[in-house]
Amino acid sequence: MAESGVTVHVSENPALAAAERLVRLAGESGSFSVAVSGGSTPRALFTLLAGEFRSRMPWSRVAVFQVDERCVPPDNPLSNWKMLQETLLDIVPEIRAYRMEAERGVRGAEDYARVLREHIGGGNAIPVFDVVLLGMGADGHTASLFPGADALHEQAKAVVYTEPPNITPDRVTLTFPVINAAKHKWFLATGSDKAPAFQRAQRGEVPAGLVTGAEWFVDSAVVASK
Ligand code: 6PG
Repeated sequence: MAESGVTVHVSENPALAAAERLVRLAGESGSFSVAVSGGSTPRALFTLLAGEFRSRMPWSRVAVFQVDERCVPPDNPLSNWKMLQETLLDIVPEIRAYRMEAERGVRGAEDYARVLREHIGGGNAIPVFDVVLLGMGADGHTASLFPGADALHEQAKAVVYTEPPNITPDRVTLTFPVINAAKHKWFLATGSDKAPAFQRAQRGEVPAGLVTGAEWFVDSAVVASK
């Protein structure tokens, strides 16, 4: 199950390295679609995009979507949207961004699949994002695709509602077919607590390892094997 074609960029500041790449790619593209995750490393990236990179991003051509969301209202402290809003959208109000209404469960997932079809899918069930920005948990999950969850096996739908084992709250998430269809799949990860999962991902043993052709933006602690 190990994936070939993986590229690893090691740097002191992976969010900065990813921001540089993102700005360059968006500058070279016409319309540009990016799906973003929650978590601590994206927070650092959003802060850069709202700050020193703000004037370098062609925001009028960029559409921002969510990779996954907890099934809570958007003002809940656990909401990925709330974090995105506070770090980026409130500061750069011209950004076109589409919220996953995960508090509506299955209906929210179905509606988001429709949103993707309308805005980037060209009517196709599996839309092609320019960039999907992913994180990885210490258990090897990515997006809200957790070890042992049924959602790992979804082959047809772009977005599903999922009740991962031993995880609360429930989630809505993009699936592997849509993540793997993206032109660029970037992981952002920092810290030694991610090192074991990183090794397992390279061997295809955890969900993050099922992303094909991924690029990893990591610090040296992530790639250090003990
Ligand atoms: C979420 C995420 C999730 C996240 C990883 C890594 O909503 O929890 O989208 O997949 O990216 O758990 O999170 P950190 O960057 O905080 O370690």
